Amino acid sequence: MRRLKWPLLLASSLFIACGQPTSESKREESRSDSVMVVNGVERTELALLMRKMYDEMALVKDSIKLGYTVKTNFLEEYKRIQTAHATEPEKIDATYKAMAEAFLINYEMFETSQDEQAKAFNGMLQNCLVCHENKCPGPVKAIKKLRIKP
Ligand code: HEC
Repeated sequence: MRRLKWPLLLASSLFIACGQPTSESKREESRSDSVMVVNGVERTELALLMRKMYDEMALVKDSIKLGYTVKTNFLEEYKRIQTAHATEPEKIDATYKAMAEAFLINYEMFETSQDEQAKAFNGMLQNCLVCHENKCPGPVKAIKKLRIKP
């Protein structure tokens, strides 16, 4: 158990995973270092990265809404969605990889956007949603709430 991560995980433990946790996902096992058990549910490297992205995008949304020009530098880190270990590794297929690439292209467009940041932000979010509707419907509602209304 990596103690340091607990406060962070507890603070965001309200998130819904892809589906409802099944008895299968409650197995006690230590598959690898990238798997962590939180409230009896396994948390993989990919799930942790996704939560972090969600939290960071929620802050970005708030800042843009307040009228700030946001400068993020997350692209290199987010590229890990292409390689991070997932709860259901079979989901990481060619479709996933294509959608991950499209997301990263749009994320880079958002990071380099100067004006119309809200538009670039919403366009990037659309790529979160496309993948989620296909691969992981649980968080779709929460992601939709990140959209910036004009
Ligand atoms: C290419 C596909 C893809 C893209 C793009 C993507 N996700 Fe995910 N997301 C997933 C998959 C697959 C999981 C399940 C990860 C796991 O359980 O290992 C996930 C999990 C999550 C979770 C739940 C994490 C948890 O606690 O279990 C959240 C929240 C989330 N994503 C938010 C986002 C946001 C916000 C974006 C865009 C900024 C995004 N995702 C982009 C595929 C994607």
